[in-house]
Amino acid sequence: MKRLFVLAALAATVSLPALAQDAESPFKDVIEARHGLMLLMAQNLATLGGMAKGAVAYDAPVATRAAANIAALSSVMSPDLFPAGSDYPTAPDSFALPAIWSDQAGFLAKIADLNTAAAGMVASAGTNVDGVKAGMAALGGACGACHKAYRQPEE
Ligand code: HEC
Repeated sequence: MKRLFVLAALAATVSLPALAQDAESPFKDVIEARHGLMLLMAQNLATLGGMAKGAVAYDAPVATRAAANIAALSSVMSPDLFPAGSDYPTAPDSFALPAIWSDQAGFLAKIADLNTAAAGMVASAGTNVDGVKAGMAALGGACGACHKAYRQPEE
């Protein structure tokens, strides 16, 4: 009996802080999801960037796959990943600026620009390294333009 009580007390101390944390941060999962999406885009962009810079040899199938990945990931970008209240500095771990909600049209335009640039990269990445370079300028620009307006720089 005594042992059961100890176990129960232990379970309570272990699980309570976790529950409290969930209650405090209803946006934890969606913020992690959009970070994962961004990191996957960055990883594929780095593959193409390495080829554009000449740090890695141009490889048409690898470039084509990275471009297709970025296009697929870009198509997942939507305001659904940015529910109201998940902004910086309100929500823990968020770097999403309140301008996303006060200027939603501008934010949607940046998502559209990203998808256009990704489609351009899909069209040109498989041809040659110059195609990758051309695609990089537009794609890097689309990432950067949105970050400049809608992302709080990390300290
Ligand atoms: C439409 C706007 C928009 C576009 C386009 C965009 N991003 Fe982001 N990105 C954001 C916002 C907003 C954040 C901050 C999200 C947060 O902290 O919740 C972010 C965060 C990031 C992060 C940090 C993730 C982390 O774990 O903190 C990386 C890396 C990133 N973006 C890469 C990219 C790359 C690469 C591209 C282009 C292929 C891109 N982004 C295009 C809006 C955008």
